[in-house]
Amino acid sequence: MKSDKLVVGNMKMNLLASDVSLYLKEFHFDEQQDQVVICPSTIYIPYFLKQPYKVGIQNLFFRDKGAYTGEISVSQAASLGIDYAIIGHSERRIYFKESDQDINKKIISALKYGFHIILCIGETAEEKGLLKTARVLKRQLLNDLRNVEKEFFSQIIIAYEPVWAIGNDVTPTMVEIEETVQYIKGIILQYFGYEDIKVLYGGSVNSKNIEELNQIPNVSGFLVGGASINAEEFLKIIEVAVKK
Ligand code: 13P
Repeated sequence: MKSDKLVVGNMKMNLLASDVSLYLKEFHFDEQQDQVVICPSTIYIPYFLKQPYKVGIQNLFFRDKGAYTGEISVSQAASLGIDYAIIGHSERRIYFKESDQDINKKIISALKYGFHIILCIGETAEEKGLLKTARVLKRQLLNDLRNVEKEFFSQIIIAYEPVWAIGNDVTPTMVEIEETVQYIKGIILQYFGYEDIKVLYGGSVNSKNIEELNQIPNVSGFLVGGASINAEEFLKIIEVAVKK
């Protein structure tokens, strides 16, 4: 029996054009896989659009059009047929100084164009050390989702990505993930009145730990970084999370 979990590959700023053609050959499915989403570097997105899985963009700008050199607007991404958008990834918050207010504008704009939003939230190692995880997650959720109407929540997916667990083979314990996901769901219910929010886990997911992570009862899927760049590795993760 198939599960209803979602597996999202965030390829970040990886692969050269020659790697992409190889990846496309290796990463194939015989039938449509709507629970698999690939988010390649934006310049490669057109190559992925005709494949039997969904495509997401790693970032968007909230303005519709105009003199914003180097940015991609929500309407442009929508016009290509891109379904998903990762918004608020910690790498954008940290390296590109995206604020909760910026993220909120991006979400409001992308929702209007029908995107499924993957909103990334998570605490840093320092915040965890200071026992501020709950406070940080609540602040991010309330500010990032400010003024989002309840009717749009079916388009929103939260990705819990502890910053300290990204790219280093370290993950929280299963219990920590389960409790944090429960906390996130509780905030969404309490402040936005929405009961069925999907929460993904992200941070060092790979083919070795996926069997275990997949047992966490309230996790709706995974946001995979480094392991999504290797087609074989990513297929193994999907095999466990989506097909079991
Ligand atoms: P890794 O899977 O490489 O830890 O990255 C996680 C991530 O940031 C996905 O968005």
